[in-house]
Amino acid sequence: MATASTAAAPAGLPTPSGRVLPAPSVAGQPLTALAPMQDVTDLPFMRVIGEYGAPDYFFTEFLRVHAHSRLDPGILDSVTRHGTGRPVFAQLIGEDIPHMVRTVRLFDPHPVAGIDLNMGCPAPKVYKKNVGGGLLRDPAKVDDLLAALREACDGLFTVKMRIGFEDTRHFDAVLESVNRHRVDLLSVHGRTVKEMYRSEVHYDWIRRAREAAVCPVLANGNVATAADAARVLAETGCAGVMIGRGAIRNPWIFRQIREYHAGRTPFAPTLADAHAYVRRLWDATHTPDRPEAAQTNRMKKFLAFIGQGVDPEGAFLHEIRRTRDKAAFFDCLDRHLLAEGTAERPFSCAPYPGLVARPNRESAAGCRL
Ligand SMILES: Cc1cc2nc3c(=O)[nH]c(=O)nc-3n(C[C@H](O)[C@H](O)[C@H](O)COP(=O)(O)O)c2cc1C
Repeated sequence: MATASTAAAPAGLPTPSGRVLPAPSVAGQPLTALAPMQDVTDLPFMRVIGEYGAPDYFFTEFLRVHAHSRLDPGILDSVTRHGTGRPVFAQLIGEDIPHMVRTVRLFDPHPVAGIDLNMGCPAPKVYKKNVGGGLLRDPAKVDDLLAALREACDGLFTVKMRIGFEDTRHFDAVLESVNRHRVDLLSVHGRTVKEMYRSEVHYDWIRRAREAAVCPVLANGNVATAADAARVLAETGCAGVMIGRGAIRNPWIFRQIREYHAGRTPFAPTLADAHAYVRRLWDATHTPDRPEAAQTNRMKKFLAFIGQGVDPEGAFLHEIRRTRDKAAFFDCLDRHLLAEGTAERPFSCAPYPGLVARPNRESAAGCRL
C-alpha cells in the first residue's frame, strides 16, 4: 500500500501493531474524522468539507466487495484527488475473506491511509447478506475476517462497528478480536444495528469500548457541535470523534472543534453563511450530464440535514422538499436564508428539536449494495 500521506509523523499516535496513526492537524488536540457516508462522502463533498475546515481523517463511502467487485473509480478519485492534505481511509464492506484480501491488494498502488472494515451498516438488505452490521451476529466470523485483513494490510487496518446487532451480547468477543488482531483504530457508533439511526446514543458503551480496546477509539453518534464533541470526549475518554450527519449540516464543525479546544469562541455561522454553503455544494456536486431535476433531488439529500438548522418551525424544510428545479430551489433558498432581516440570523449547527431529516436512514431504501 502506498503510504505517501501516512508517513509516520513523530507526533502520530502509536498503535498496537507497531504502526503510527497520522497526527492530528493541531498537535495535542483530539482527533476528528468525517464519517463514511454512502452517496455523500465522495470527491466533491470531501473537497467542500476541506474548504470549510478539514477533519484529521476522511473515510470513503463503502466499497462493496464480492466475487466480481473491482475498485470503484469514484472511490479512487476521492482517495487521490481530494486535495485536502489529510489522510483518507478506504472503507470495505463484505464477508468473503479471499475477495476482501484481494481487494486490499488492489489498493496497494494507491495512496490510502489505511483500510477500514464496515461492521455497522444497518439496512436489512445489507445485514441479511451477513455484511456490515450483519457481521456482529457472528463473532467467530468477525475473528476470521479481522485475522485475514490484519495479515493482508501492510499499512493501517481500522474497524468501524456498532455496539451489537440486537443487543450487546457479542460486544466483549468482538472487542477481544479487535485486540487480538491488532486493529490500529476503532470507530464506535454507539447504537445497535437494530437501533438504526435515531435512538439515543449509548455513550456508556462507547466508553466501555475505549476501556477494552488497546488501540485509539473514535466516538461516533449525534455529534453536532463543538460542545457536543467536548462532552462526548469527556464522557467516553476517546481519542477523538467521528462525525457524519453533523458535518453535512454544519461543515464548519471540524474548525469549530479546533477553535473550542484552543480556547477560542467557535465560528458561529449565519443563515447567509449557510446559503453560501448550499450554493457551493450545488456547484461542487453538479455534473453536466445530470439533468436539473436530478441535481435538485440530489441536493435534497444534503438539505434534509442542513434544513434542520434553518428555522425551528421547519417551514424551509417543508418548502425545499417540494422544489422540482433549480429556479424554485434557489428561490426558496434566497427567501428563507438571504432575505432582508434573515441573512444575519444565526444558523443552528444542531438540529432544531422535532425536525426530522427525510429521507433518513431508517429504511433499507437508503442503502445500495
Ligand atoms: C447518508 C448516510 C450514509 C452512510 N453510509 C455509511 C457507510 O458507507 N459506511 C459506514 O460505515 N457508515 C455509514 N453511515 C453511518 C455513519 O458513518 C455514522 O456512523 C452514523 O451516521 C452516525 O453518526 P452521525 O450521528 O455523526 O451521523 C451512513 C450514514 C448516513 C447518514
